[in-house]
Amino acid sequence: LEGLRHVIDIRQFKEPEDLEKLMRLSEEMESGFRSGALGQPMTGKVLAALFYEPSTRTKFSFESAMLRLGGRTIGTESAAQFSSAAKGESLPDTIRIIGRYADVIVIRHPEEGSAKLAAEYSPVPVINAGDGTGQHPTQTLLDAYTIRKELGRLDDFSIAMVGDLKNGRTVHSLACLLAHRKNVRMLFISPESLKMKEEIKEYLKGKGVAFSETSDLDGAIGGIDVLYVTRVQKERFASLEDYDKIRGCYIITNEIANRMKGTAIIMHPLPRVDEIAPDVDSNPRAAYFRQAENGLYVRMALLKTVLGGEA
Ligand code: CP
Repeated sequence: LEGLRHVIDIRQFKEPEDLEKLMRLSEEMESGFRSGALGQPMTGKVLAALFYEPSTRTKFSFESAMLRLGGRTIGTESAAQFSSAAKGESLPDTIRIIGRYADVIVIRHPEEGSAKLAAEYSPVPVINAGDGTGQHPTQTLLDAYTIRKELGRLDDFSIAMVGDLKNGRTVHSLACLLAHRKNVRMLFISPESLKMKEEIKEYLKGKGVAFSETSDLDGAIGGIDVLYVTRVQKERFASLEDYDKIRGCYIITNEIANRMKGTAIIMHPLPRVDEIAPDVDSNPRAAYFRQAENGLYVRMALLKTVLGGEA
């Protein structure tokens, strides 16, 4: 992790030692937060939240992480609407300018590759908070933290990713990271039209990582350790009609959840629409709210890593 500047692609964390360092720092952040001993290592630092797409968890948790570590934040409710992008300014120019006002830029943008482009022009660290249907690396880091904490390990388990595997950037990043772990058995469950993105499957094949694909959720549910549910990504569909045809393709009910192993967990990057019935929330396997909370600790650890600062 030494020298980590931009966080753009989850494969930057493919070395198990680097990931373990970040996981341990996240644990330190969590225990410091719980005991009130975080310190103010980000005093004098400014985070710019540059979000061209909506967000609840990623934006608020990054901002909260910075504020709780003693730093400050700047941003706008919708960069697409209220930054000078609305007047035609290019992303490189926007980044050149914001990089003169802030010490770190957290960017979410509808185009794949936008965070990488931003990093090329930025005088300060850039963190990818989701680039179109590309990646969402900080989500995957908090997912890894959650699995490690809930199962007690980040190797040797089976995971089923369910839903919109074509457009969901969280599962793209997650599959790439898990390709570098030991004995993680991946099952991709989706309708035919929302199968896992080819580029990700090619990556797994190139690494010699086996995976299975099916549309049958019922047949898989009893044997897995992690059920990773995703929303059908309405915003990536060409028409509302196409979206309506496929929405609700998988709905996890409490009856389904209770057929999972007692030690299994249900994750979801959130927001959910109708993929998980509300009565699952009280099932002990439901880990998705704990997962979202973990984002705070992991993002604190990321800010400390890219900006330095003594706790
Ligand atoms: N998981 C996630 O990225 O949530 P938000 O879109 O609310 O940030």
